Amino acid sequence: MSNQTIIIRDAKELASLTKKIQHEGKSIGLVPTMGYLHEGHLSLIRAARAKSDFVVVSDFVNPTQFGPNEDYATYPRDEQADFEKVQSCGADVLFIPTVESLYPNGQGSTWVEVQNLGNILCGATRPGHFRGVATVVTKLLWLSRADYAFFGEKDYQQLTILKRMAADLGCPTEIIGMPLVREADGLALSSRNVRLSPEARKQALSLNHGLKRASAAFKAGCRNAEKLIWEAQAEIATEKDTEIQYISVANPDTLEIYNGDVPDQAIMLLAVKVGGVRLIDNMRLDK
Ligand code: PAJ
Repeated sequence: MSNQTIIIRDAKELASLTKKIQHEGKSIGLVPTMGYLHEGHLSLIRAARAKSDFVVVSDFVNPTQFGPNEDYATYPRDEQADFEKVQSCGADVLFIPTVESLYPNGQGSTWVEVQNLGNILCGATRPGHFRGVATVVTKLLWLSRADYAFFGEKDYQQLTILKRMAADLGCPTEIIGMPLVREADGLALSSRNVRLSPEARKQALSLNHGLKRASAAFKAGCRNAEKLIWEAQAEIATEKDTEIQYISVANPDTLEIYNGDVPDQAIMLLAVKVGGVRLIDNMRLDK
């Protein structure tokens, strides 16, 4: 399929187009992103292309999910490169709204908030972050009338929260999780990786090494959360510019955090600042 991708910047224009597409009986797939696209994002767009008749990719650095001291202003952006990549994956629409178009009554007028799940792990160090994510994704789901929306397991907590949100709200969109895409050497792809200095880039590999070490211990029979965390920490803390925000072992479906005994199904999740750049990663311990 050689689709011509069109750019839409106005929320109402997207809404009227997707209404028409839906009336034609076509299925709609949505891939929400904050742009600066890499292979992780493109894997979602290709999955959307394969499953849906009409594909909408959104490219919006959402201000409501950034804290006051976070990197909203400096988040990397490259609209032209994004357009070319989206076009090469055969998407129908690249939606690049303005802040005013998505938040016509200002930011914070209405929130969608998933309790509990939104306050642990990344939510504990980034208060309000997941409320901003859930709110903007809700808007994008409405505007796109998506039958399917695709999210990466790289942001595992985000995916879990959005599945819960869709279930709680009776949302008609199916939330589909896709595997985490890594560089050849194991670093999880992230738009923020461009900020890593060559030295920090090397040290960032310790995240993947730590997860692999914990996973090996799990496979060898270790079922103690603190011991598994220690295995990961031992790899990461030896790099001089790393600052661990959290390393946790949790239930892969509910994100209930384990202390002490760990059952046979578990995931390890972590957030670490490397040379000042905040990175997240995760790995199923049981697969
Ligand atoms: P962003 O960080 O741009 O990521 C957009 C989507 O790409 C998310 O679903 C994320 O999990 C996925 N993704 C990023 N890196 C990935 C990787 N290495 N492998 C697989 N998938 C990957 O996540 C957001 O934007 C925002 O919070 C958003 C959902 C768009 C709401 O503003």
